[in-house]
Amino acid sequence: MQRTLVLIKPDAMKRRLAGRILTRLEDKGLALVGLKIMQVTPDLAKQHYAEHVAKPFYPELEEFITSGPVVAICLEGPEAITVTRGMMGKTNGRESAPGTIRGDFGMSRQLNLIHGSDSPEASDREIPLYFSDEELVGSTDGM
Ligand code: CMP
Repeated sequence: MQRTLVLIKPDAMKRRLAGRILTRLEDKGLALVGLKIMQVTPDLAKQHYAEHVAKPFYPELEEFITSGPVVAICLEGPEAITVTRGMMGKTNGRESAPGTIRGDFGMSRQLNLIHGSDSPEASDREIPLYFSDEELVGSTDGM
């Protein structure tokens, strides 16, 4: 059983896509173990995107991710990280296959609707940035 951190990004929120994205993830069989709507601060953005902070596109990325509320989600399931990444599609919506979230709803590399942890190391680092232990329910194994 694996956990992953998903964010429904500000562009998806502005476009009122949060419910549809969440429905897809639940329909697939992933279980919600944490869920909240929140504002990402510049400080949290720098921690989340630590590997990108020095890159030329980082200021734009921070401006975007802090531009409005996000839905932070912790999902659980077998191979939850890979399953979620597959459902998201490629970073750039234009290159993302039909049937994926970005492929079906997006045309942009920057405004790409959803974040999902890309490895177990990333989910171990990212989940505590967004959720305290008390905000996560216990394992859904057996549900
Ligand atoms: P994501 O993969 O969720 O997290 C890092 C984000 O940085 C990525 O989505 C894009 O939104 C953004 N990003 C990655 N590469 C570039 C780039 N070359 N130019 C602009 N934004 C980028």
